[in-house]
Amino acid sequence: MSHITLFYLCSISTVLFSQVSSLQEDYYWREYTGSIPGDAVVGGKDINGHDIYMGQAYIRNHGLIVVQIYPGVKEVHAAIAGIKTVSTYVKILCGPQENFYWLPANATDLHLSLLDKHAVIGGHNDGYGQINIGRIKHEGETKIGKINSWAVGGAYFYFNNKGKEGVNVKSYEILIYRNADIDVRIKSN
Ligand SMILES: *[C@@H]1O[C@H](CO)[C@@H](O)[C@H](O)[C@H]1NC(C)=O
Repeated sequence: MSHITLFYLCSISTVLFSQVSSLQEDYYWREYTGSIPGDAVVGGKDINGHDIYMGQAYIRNHGLIVVQIYPGVKEVHAAIAGIKTVSTYVKILCGPQENFYWLPANATDLHLSLLDKHAVIGGHNDGYGQINIGRIKHEGETKIGKINSWAVGGAYFYFNNKGKEGVNVKSYEILIYRNADIDVRIKSN
């Protein structure tokens, strides 16, 4: 192998490596005040077929809770000890849409399903731990809510069910961020 070839290979791995590192941190929460940023991640459809989004709201004494965002609607409804309605300090999930996917999962086996995956962190329950972003299909539309991932063996899903807290949902989908390392390895084989 000539020196020039070696140099060329090294440059390629440097490029690959920097792409991998940037991919892994390529999602973020933007402030949400009613309008949807261009890079917001679509989470599903409402009853009228319009895109809905993933949000995060701070609820005093309860934590940072995953909420559903309807375009143009500033208020969000967090399912935590009932329903808490807020319109300040709300954030919206943004990033490259193609790097996210939904994985079917359930409350009993969630921790096993996530062993080699990066579930997007949705926030936390004060005093308990981390929550992830979940969704179900309910009465013809997508419902975004929180998954209590901190509860191993009982990681249930919670959502706003028309103003009431939908609790202890066992089967759902969880939002995953693609593991760039695995993708690169598969492609080079
Ligand atoms: C829960 O998820 C695991 C892993 O995907 C699967 O093997 C199992 O059948 C599921 N259980 C139920 C009750 O859906």
